[in-house]
Amino acid sequence: MDKIVIQGGVALAGEVTISGSKNAALPILVSSLLTDGKNTYTNVPDLRDIHSIGQLLAHLGASVESHQNILTIDASGLNNSVAPYELVRKMRASILVLGPLVARLGKARVSLPGGCAIGARPINLHLKGIEALGASIELKHGYVEASAGKLKGADIYFDIPTVGGTENIMMAAVLAEGETVLRNVACEPEIIALADVLNQMGANVHGAGTSVITINGVKSLDPISVSIIPDRIEAGTFLVAGALTKGDVTISHCEPDHMREIINKLEQTGALIDIGKNSLRVRGVDVIKSADVKTMPYPGFPTDMQAQFMVLMAVADRVSLISENIFENRFIHVSELHRMGADIEISGNTAMVKGVKTLYGAPVMATDLRASASLILAGLIAKGETVVNRVYHLDRGYEAIENKFAALNARIKRVRDNGELYG
Ligand code: EPU
Repeated sequence: MDKIVIQGGVALAGEVTISGSKNAALPILVSSLLTDGKNTYTNVPDLRDIHSIGQLLAHLGASVESHQNILTIDASGLNNSVAPYELVRKMRASILVLGPLVARLGKARVSLPGGCAIGARPINLHLKGIEALGASIELKHGYVEASAGKLKGADIYFDIPTVGGTENIMMAAVLAEGETVLRNVACEPEIIALADVLNQMGANVHGAGTSVITINGVKSLDPISVSIIPDRIEAGTFLVAGALTKGDVTISHCEPDHMREIINKLEQTGALIDIGKNSLRVRGVDVIKSADVKTMPYPGFPTDMQAQFMVLMAVADRVSLISENIFENRFIHVSELHRMGADIEISGNTAMVKGVKTLYGAPVMATDLRASASLILAGLIAKGETVVNRVYHLDRGYEAIENKFAALNARIKRVRDNGELYG
């Protein structure tokens, strides 16, 4: 598997352009199943997870074509209601096809995704929602088997706000008969982006971005052409990188409004941030101040930025407490950061991070996307060489990360499986 090799110690400088959001693109691409006809998506990030969802949609009968960052999907040929284990296991977001398949075909057989490195990640709330819309659900041989006549609108309360659960049930409810009210839903920008796309297709979705979404079902939807919103987590990762390396980095093509809590936290650490309309400029300072963080559903501090922020705190002036409140096992990066000299103690869902003066390069690896990104960040400031192994996870969610860092003067290279050097 490819590796990323970094020689630390360079203050990053220059401008980086942010790609389209992975977590917005995935449900939006799946929503193509709700229409007959060709949908066109621009600003689609070129990522492993995007290829995986494309493969799954093609398996279900859609015609999928990609050219650079443009993807077209035509689901007129949708004829298969089975999402097999081999495709779902590659990416949990595959479960998002459940709602659209039941809405369009009246049935679906979707492999249960199973747990993953960061937690058990059950899908009980997705199933509860689809059942409330009138589908009957059975769990057989590791698969969810759902069947329904015409789905009917319902009043559904989610025990906890779930991003994927909200998206799945929104996509089912747009073609259900009558009104659906979804309560205590996720408010992430990716939910608003999906609701905008559904409305552009002719759906009737109100309230996305608040905790109650109301949907009035329509008979059919039309294909659309849409641009994917910028990736707020990629932008946040570069923001931390600029502050951490005491650099001067301009982050363009981003949406600062989606990043208010990330910006707020970085400012608490002393970083200087200029907020533009679609750009951010971050300048690092000599002394990084410690700041506590609790991950929360949006608009709180995102769990997807917790690992990266922890690296900043690992070299801050005092002690900080970082609590992970979304996933039960999202401290995978801590043992690798220890190997680079970080002083971090975990107790339950809280990490106590005592800032140290220096991190040291080491061979490291992680089994989660954001944990892997945090190791790249650590490598950027470590003394000597850091080798981040198992780049597979990074390629799932960061487009050309080594090229983007290299363009900011980082000494970073990808070493291919066959030993070839890139970057
Ligand atoms: N949960 C349940 N039951 C459910 C669904 C969720 O108990 O039926 C729990 C989860 O176990 C978790 C919490 O609810 O403890 C929140 O999970 P959520 O459903 O919101 O997460 P998700 O939809 O599976 C998305 C992102 C994640 C991101 C989380 C939280 C996508 C494709 N994935 O996952 O992104 O961490 O929301 O913001 O949108 C990443 O990009 O690295 C990533 C993991």
